[in-house]
Amino acid sequence: MRKELMAANWKLYNVTLEENVKEAKGIAESAKDADCEVVICPSAPFLIPVKEAIAGSPVKLGAQGVFWEEKGGFTAQISPQSLKDIGCEYVIIGHSETRGRFGVGSVKEELLSYFSETDETVNLKVLTALKVGLKPIICVGETINERKAGKQDEIISYQVEMALRNVEDLDGIVIAYEPVWAIGTGEFCDPEEANRIIGLIRNKVREQFGEKADEMRILYGGSVDPNNIASFMEKEEVDGALVGRASAKAESFSKIIHYK
Ligand code: 13P
Repeated sequence: MRKELMAANWKLYNVTLEENVKEAKGIAESAKDADCEVVICPSAPFLIPVKEAIAGSPVKLGAQGVFWEEKGGFTAQISPQSLKDIGCEYVIIGHSETRGRFGVGSVKEELLSYFSETDETVNLKVLTALKVGLKPIICVGETINERKAGKQDEIISYQVEMALRNVEDLDGIVIAYEPVWAIGTGEFCDPEEANRIIGLIRNKVREQFGEKADEMRILYGGSVDPNNIASFMEKEEVDGALVGRASAKAESFSKIIHYK
């Protein structure tokens, strides 16, 4: 039996100390009687204040990103060791926004390579995160053009295969299916299609890890809100959600946690 997981990716929605602490406390309160596991991933400057705000509650702490080296001359990067040391349990890796794959063309094509994660760096980050004992939430998903070309299954299988290259143990790993076109757009994926893709991801993982794949949690992400969460959670393959905008305020994320 896979325990449901609701993960809040706060992105850059909560940007002051006051709102980070306030919303984290609200979520901590509401998670006390939740059936699912709850994770908050604030932006890096607020990891410690949020950790203090959720202390004593079942809510876990996650980071939105990490570097693949543990230590050295790497200005502005975040060490997996540091995340582990301050109490993070999870880390998001390969989000489409850090891969530079956006649903809207707000970043010039020629600038993407300056900040984008690639399938190779996603894999390096997954390996280092696991080495220090962090649980990676690995994001995969297709752009609208890839879907229009009918390439979504191929793209997602490849992203999964690359992310898990040289991984020996599946324990702790979470995958999130986040179709890029559904992120922040209000246009969510048909739950039946999300279920199909998540099944495809599980089959891909099964090729490498056998029956262990049945223990791994796979989430859906992309315009999840209090009104549509139940339609995803009723699908057999969907083990939870990675939520952006609707997770930033305790009021709406609490409704998602208590969707039943
Ligand atoms: P939204 O819920 O805002 O669409 O974002 C989803 C997401 O990218 C979570 O990682």
